[in-house]
Amino acid sequence: MSSITDVESQQAIEDLVGRIFMEGVGAFHLGTVYIGLKHGLFETLVERGPLTAEELSGSKGLDAWYVREWLQAEATAGLVVADDEDLTVARFTPAPAVREVLVEATGPAFIAGLPLATAAAYSVMPSLLKAFRTGEGVAYQSYGGDAVEAQAALNRPAFVNQLVAEWIPQIPDLAARLTDTTRTTMVADVGCGLGWAAIELAKAYPHLRIDGYDSDEESISRARRNAADHGVSDRLTFDVADASRGLGNERYDLILFLECVHDMAHPVEAMAAARAALADGGTVIVMDERVADTLTAGDPTETFFATVSVLWCLPQGRVEPDSEAVGTVMRTDRFRGIARDAGWSDVEVLPIDHPFWRFYRLLP
Ligand SMILES: C[S@@+](CC[C@H](N)C(=O)[O-])C[C@H]1O[C@@H](n2cnc3c(N)ncnc32)[C@H](O)[C@@H]1O
Repeated sequence: MSSITDVESQQAIEDLVGRIFMEGVGAFHLGTVYIGLKHGLFETLVERGPLTAEELSGSKGLDAWYVREWLQAEATAGLVVADDEDLTVARFTPAPAVREVLVEATGPAFIAGLPLATAAAYSVMPSLLKAFRTGEGVAYQSYGGDAVEAQAALNRPAFVNQLVAEWIPQIPDLAARLTDTTRTTMVADVGCGLGWAAIELAKAYPHLRIDGYDSDEESISRARRNAADHGVSDRLTFDVADASRGLGNERYDLILFLECVHDMAHPVEAMAAARAALADGGTVIVMDERVADTLTAGDPTETFFATVSVLWCLPQGRVEPDSEAVGTVMRTDRFRGIARDAGWSDVEVLPIDHPFWRFYRLLP
């Protein structure tokens, strides 16, 4: 007769096998979603479906056999619906919500950045394995073009839908400053990535002048193109710069650090640079991950942040040999310490509610 302990450990084994299997299913499925995104298959199905495998592959100039196999995978996963068992004659329709979740890049539900980021992270595994031995970093640039695209895709929906409409109105003095058209207001978007936050601000407040800074050249050249495409390049500049080495000679009324402080090799120096570059009465806002205050097991969001830190943020932040990068899990106390070391008196956690972000204001 087996003891309670044996039964419990057998159950634990079965549970863990089941869990790892399901996570493996998800990991492989994100791979086929990635292919669908990169080849525009979801988009074409949404715009022109129902389509046969032949019609879909033909319209994209792709191999019919692979596309048929891809449709089969997505049909099993429930992202497309087939109207026939025979894949060679079936017509395929996207499942409800595919448009909102995987096609509409500025919609609030768009999450296509996640499969892109996963593929980019897996692509650097050999370098990351080596980094675990050597303690070196893995440069953002090694993650390939998908990395910057993924990063922008993940955050742009919030910048389009929430930055101006929801977040800024919850900081009344800042909202007043940004809507005061009697003077030019200078804004810095530090770690600006592809520039989407700056572009939204420029569209919403036409009298702002905004400088975007990022240490990644690819991001800056794409940000410049994005600003031109959106007709706001006359009020926006984008420059390659390491924020920890200063923010030029300008004095800014608003300095934003949107999901970048935890990535920086020298966050204290970057916070000090913001102090030096702030105009009298100016505001520094930091948006970073809303991680729990203490190590927390069993919460998927915490696991997401902590695993992203291992595969993405920490290796990128450790490229500089004297790095003091925090990684994704930057708890409030840790950030408060960074701000104080940089000469700020304290940080205020702003009452802006968001499942993933916490907003801080630096206090002089
Ligand atoms: C997570 S991404 C966020 C990008 C953008 N703010 C957004 O929300 O889409 C972090 C960005 O910080 C940039 N970055 C990291 N260290 C930096 C530094 N020392 N100075 C300037 N930018 C930096 C990276 O190149 C990257 O574009």
